[in-house]
Amino acid sequence: QILILDFGSQYTQLIARRVRELDVYCEIHPYNNFPELTPNIKGVILSGSPCSVRDEGSPRVDLSQIRGQVPILGICYGAQVMAQMLGGEVQASQTREYGRAKLNIADHDSSLLAGLSSSSHVWMSHGDTIVSIPDSFHVIASTESVRVAAYKLADELTYGIQFHPEVTHSTEGKQLMHNFVVGICECKQDWTSESFAEQTIAELKVELGNDRVVMALSGGVDSSVAATLVHHAIGKNLFCIFVDNGLLRKDEYEQVLHSYEDMGLNIKGVDAKDLFYSELAGLTDPEAKRKAIGKAFIDIFDQEAHLIEDVKWLGQGTIYPDVIESVSVKGPSATIKSHHNVGGLPDFMKLKVVEPLKTLFKDEVRAVGRTLGISENILGRHPFPGPGLAIRILGDVTAEKVHILQQVDAIFINGLKKWDLYKEVWQAGVMLLPVQSVGVMGDERTYENVVALRAVTSVDGMTADWAHLPYDFLAEVSNDIINRVKGVNRVVYDISSKPPATIEWE
Ligand code: XMP
Repeated sequence: QILILDFGSQYTQLIARRVRELDVYCEIHPYNNFPELTPNIKGVILSGSPCSVRDEGSPRVDLSQIRGQVPILGICYGAQVMAQMLGGEVQASQTREYGRAKLNIADHDSSLLAGLSSSSHVWMSHGDTIVSIPDSFHVIASTESVRVAAYKLADELTYGIQFHPEVTHSTEGKQLMHNFVVGICECKQDWTSESFAEQTIAELKVELGNDRVVMALSGGVDSSVAATLVHHAIGKNLFCIFVDNGLLRKDEYEQVLHSYEDMGLNIKGVDAKDLFYSELAGLTDPEAKRKAIGKAFIDIFDQEAHLIEDVKWLGQGTIYPDVIESVSVKGPSATIKSHHNVGGLPDFMKLKVVEPLKTLFKDEVRAVGRTLGISENILGRHPFPGPGLAIRILGDVTAEKVHILQQVDAIFINGLKKWDLYKEVWQAGVMLLPVQSVGVMGDERTYENVVALRAVTSVDGMTADWAHLPYDFLAEVSNDIINRVKGVNRVVYDISSKPPATIEWE
């Protein structure tokens, strides 16, 4: 595997994605929590950083632990920090350099740059430049404004590059990553979704033996794939619970339950709608609503888990972005919303935790799901928040409001599917606003609810843009909603991006 040392760059996860696209396993570790080098670590990549190497207290790493033992590739800050620590000089650039630059290869024999064309463009994003390098370094590529765009140390497989091969704007970034990971580090390209599934099931068999495992499923991709892996390993010893919290989409409870039964899972559906509605009654504050839902969920889950005799493990669909230890080089970030995931279950249950997907990114989870034959119906789903429609009904939640929103949401989502737009957007849903407006139907004055449609494009939900859906589609959906859903007489479309807005309204 490849070890990625994170100095807090926004691109660190992208580096990991690129390595894994080469079918090579890699892990991200914080720069200040360096794991011991084991023989299966074939190379180390030092990431970029929002810091400047010139800042006092900027992150450092003890290079003597890795230099000469495995190949090293420093990217941006990673390259600068090595240059500076080994006697070179880094200064603030005359102009900050962002964007594309043409790469002029100085050393055509360099293994790192093998196969790169003379028209290769790279993506620059830095405010500092390496202005001098020690004698043991030699420059292997430059750009018009950066002399030391790429360097190699004499007699060792240590490289630094000022640009970002991991972003798609670097036209031959993939080739460069291949050169380093496969060529220089000699990693085998055998980490595929098939091998992951096979190996994980084998390991789960050993780890879980004849023990019983309980798991809460949500209908989403992660918990479904995690459960399927555990099911392949231990069959009926996996007890799955699917809770109807009364906040799911229209008909979703029945559909998902049937899919799980068809997959052969040992699944129990629990109708807890009334409990959730009574816990939510009268609550209007978004955080209070989330907390009430979280608590009701834990109560139900605890009650159900206790009905299973002798259960020892709790299965969870945690994925890699949830567990990467984030490096905070610029101070802690504030909590915007307290997320309720089936993830955060109580310790008081004293169960051991099994998380078979905790090394995977979301799209890798989908790929494993496909390998396991899980239907596209589940794998291709948009993300849906744990608290469900409750955080899309602004203000207090009642069964009647849920019913209205379910109908509107179904028209919107089915419309997206009919118009072949469902896959184009990352997530879509509807908000029911605590606002009435005047309308006219026939000769009658109406005074009814307003709904806001929301559809976004995104990669990971951290940032998002509103989806530029066709006007004809919006017109059809709006018409259908107002004509078919009693209680709604006005439809608006949310055109805010995240940031500064968020995807959900609460
Ligand atoms: P926001 O609204 O923060 O949402 O832009 C980002 C993504 O997270 C989902 N979301 C949640 N998911 N529990 C979840 O499991 C939650 O409490 C929760 N709140 C928001 C949201 O749907 C979007 O995909």
